[in-house]
Amino acid sequence: MNDHVPPTGLPESGRPADDVLADLTAKRSHDVRWADGRTFALVFDGGEDVRAVAEEAARLYLHENALNTLAFPSLGSIQSEICGWTADLLHGPEAAGFLTSGGTESILCAVLAARDRAVAERGLTDPEIVLPVSAHAAFHKGAHMFGLRTRTVPVTDGWTTDLDAMADAVGPDTALVVTSAPQYPQGTVDPVPEVASMAAEVGASCHVDACMGGFVLPFAEMEGRTTPQWDFRVDGVTSISADLHKLGYAPKGVSVILHRSRELRRYQTFDFDGWLAGRYITPNMQGTRSGLPMAAAWAVMQYLGVDGYRRLVRTTLETADSIRAGVRAIDGLRILGDPVHHLLAMSADPEMDDTIRRIDLFALGEAMADRGWHLDRQGPPPSLHMTVSAGNAKAVDEFLADLSQATEHVRGGPTGEVTQYATLE
Ligand SMILES: Cc1ncc(COP(=O)(O)O)c(C=O)c1O
Repeated sequence: MNDHVPPTGLPESGRPADDVLADLTAKRSHDVRWADGRTFALVFDGGEDVRAVAEEAARLYLHENALNTLAFPSLGSIQSEICGWTADLLHGPEAAGFLTSGGTESILCAVLAARDRAVAERGLTDPEIVLPVSAHAAFHKGAHMFGLRTRTVPVTDGWTTDLDAMADAVGPDTALVVTSAPQYPQGTVDPVPEVASMAAEVGASCHVDACMGGFVLPFAEMEGRTTPQWDFRVDGVTSISADLHKLGYAPKGVSVILHRSRELRRYQTFDFDGWLAGRYITPNMQGTRSGLPMAAAWAVMQYLGVDGYRRLVRTTLETADSIRAGVRAIDGLRILGDPVHHLLAMSADPEMDDTIRRIDLFALGEAMADRGWHLDRQGPPPSLHMTVSAGNAKAVDEFLADLSQATEHVRGGPTGEVTQYATLE
């Protein structure tokens, strides 16, 4: 036996379960503490009761595999029921889709389906995606993976798609036009009807990225907060992504991708019979597929129902409104654009040319982190991003008090440059 056990090697003998679990618990000590409402990204908390339901469902389906829904018909029905409920919320009576592992995978599926449709129906040889600079990076990832060219168009002063620029960019090679409800960086809803009609004019697909808004905007509308239409009620919208693991309050690993019809959905599936183990059909990027997030999402949706989601959306939007009002009340800070849902970005007021009064947003982000708040830094322009969810409501007064104090702390300091927004580790 080798005496030397490298520090990274597996233990030679297994360890007691209690020790192992204690180590895992200890590893979390430096993670963001999302359950206390001080995190505005990454984890969205529907409350202890919602978590408890998800955890029990997760335990039931921890080991199940949705690769083969003939072996696990339960997962087949979970998937089709969730897609059906979502299609209903998004006004797509004929819509059909699948569950994926998250927003990125749903977007990859939409890009692939649009490419294959454009090749099959229009014979495109050099297909393009036209998208605003505000669209999620996952569309560029899809273009990179599936060999599409990208044409990025700017946004207006209000941080929505510049329609003139988009009209110039959409043309005979366009396979997919992208629009968001809402977009991530500033939280504004794009003019979906105008964009969808440009796509339809050239026979291209139009994807609405509602990864953030898919389980907020329908309930906001029921609560009387109307937005210009953006879902399958808009002619020309061919697919929509909506993430259950964001404001659907399910645990991580589950999103819905819907196509307007079964015919359009077929461009997403991979059906292969050319190897030694028979026919292999998969609906998304995965092979083996955990049943855990699917079952947990099913349970959370049933547990909340329309009433429960309306209650959480009401709390979320009121919290986001209070934060926006609080930020606007601080001298030298502003909200970018006019987001009316649960996302926002705060930035320095460009009119503030007085160096004594100026605010460095990234220094402010640091000062807030020192006070135990997690906000994402982003840019351009340098700004702090917040995704508000119901779990933040309990901390809003403390947040605004700390923001005001932290702003005074950094006011007049040197303006730094952000060099890195995210890391791979
Ligand atoms: C609008 C939007 N689209 C897509 C995504 C990607 O989702 P995921 O991180 O689940 O892959 C995000 C993530 O924040 C998003 O905000």
